[in-house]
Amino acid sequence: MDSERPRGTRDFTPEDMSKRAFVEKALRNVASRFNYGEVLFPAFEHTQLFQTKSGEEIAGHMYVFEDKSGRSLCLRPEATASVARMFGTSLRNRHKPVKVFYFGPMYRYEEPQKNRYREFWQFGFELIGSDSKESDAETILLAVECLRALNIDYSLEISHLGVARALLEETGLDEKQQDHIIACLDRKNTGEVKKTLKDGNLLKLMELKGNMEAIEKAKEITGQNQKANDALGRLEEVAELLDSARVQYSVNLGIARGLAYYTGIIFEIRVQNLGAQNQICGGGRYDNLIKMFSGLDEPAVGFAFGFDRLLDAAETQKVSMPEEEKPIVVSPASEDARDKAFEIAAYLRRITARRIELDLMNRKLGRNLEHASNINASFVVIVGLKELKENKVILKDMQQSTQKEVNLEEIAKILL
Ligand code: HAM
Repeated sequence: MDSERPRGTRDFTPEDMSKRAFVEKALRNVASRFNYGEVLFPAFEHTQLFQTKSGEEIAGHMYVFEDKSGRSLCLRPEATASVARMFGTSLRNRHKPVKVFYFGPMYRYEEPQKNRYREFWQFGFELIGSDSKESDAETILLAVECLRALNIDYSLEISHLGVARALLEETGLDEKQQDHIIACLDRKNTGEVKKTLKDGNLLKLMELKGNMEAIEKAKEITGQNQKANDALGRLEEVAELLDSARVQYSVNLGIARGLAYYTGIIFEIRVQNLGAQNQICGGGRYDNLIKMFSGLDEPAVGFAFGFDRLLDAAETQKVSMPEEEKPIVVSPASEDARDKAFEIAAYLRRITARRIELDLMNRKLGRNLEHASNINASFVVIVGLKELKENKVILKDMQQSTQKEVNLEEIAKILL
């Protein structure tokens, strides 16, 4: 039997999972502070859901399969399309804005490398029903607050995809052709862009980076193009709101994003020292997607953290993560006390919230003490028939190497 994992997948040990739970908890806490509610949807969907507007990059990297009835299904490569679909069926009658978050695995058939997996987790947020500048700015602020909660240093870049789209529209390209050029820009394939577009305005625009002066320079390129100038105006407004919230960012008109559904503000967050795959978060406004999947014309904005990269960033930046609480081992003092040890362990689990480990290996006391020190236990509760006659057990403190008899009624206070 093939005992290798499929390429690009990982196993997680209890130690890994306890770190993941810590990061997950921090993000859940921020989601609740911004009043987002959790949603869950299937891990596989109809292939078409993602083929329509996720973009050529993602569409080309999907795990597609046929079910026994011949339907084409795929493992979800991302979740925004699922939320758009779900909005139409289960969330449509809610008061707006609808604010939801999700946490789960996504699947992309990509070439695995450090921080790029075929199964990876996203923690994402979507806000549906508002097209205000505040909803753009608050979405970005939400991403920043997640990083602040974890004490992770980052760099945030913002842009507005409407600027590039308006320039592309001017050249007469239809939406599909525009999507292709934007996908090329995202892959930094400028050769293909040069071949399709005669004037070099779009490429000049994509080189603009910095702060507000990048927006001013962009206006020189967009000239009289009203749609492009409106987009730059929105970018300016959102930048001002971010300033007011003291969020550090830079404007980068070169961001294109790999997904084809974006229509407005877009943003990406990177961290240092993660290697080539250093983008831990990406998102933006997508005002046409909800209509496509639900028939309801609702604007929307959101983003997703690559959860695995976020965790790597936390570890690389030495974010302090709480250690697992030390266990307490329950051991019989002798063979004839084994049943009583079982009973005492059950009792301890009822009266304290501590991690209790009963000897399940039929070890003698000496071996149990060795085991306790191997697993870094804080105490060993030694259950002896003699002590039990007085309703007592022996409590051995593993750190201090001391032991004393303790009454079973009092033990809860000590082990609290
Ligand atoms: P995305 O940029 O494709 O956007 O993915 C979001 C994040 O997922 C990336 O920034 C990255 O950290 C992580 N990620 C992507 N691919 C991999 C991979 N192969 N291995 C590890 N991590 C990966 C989206 O998926 C959009 N749905 C985000 C969004 C939500 N936009 C609006 N709402």
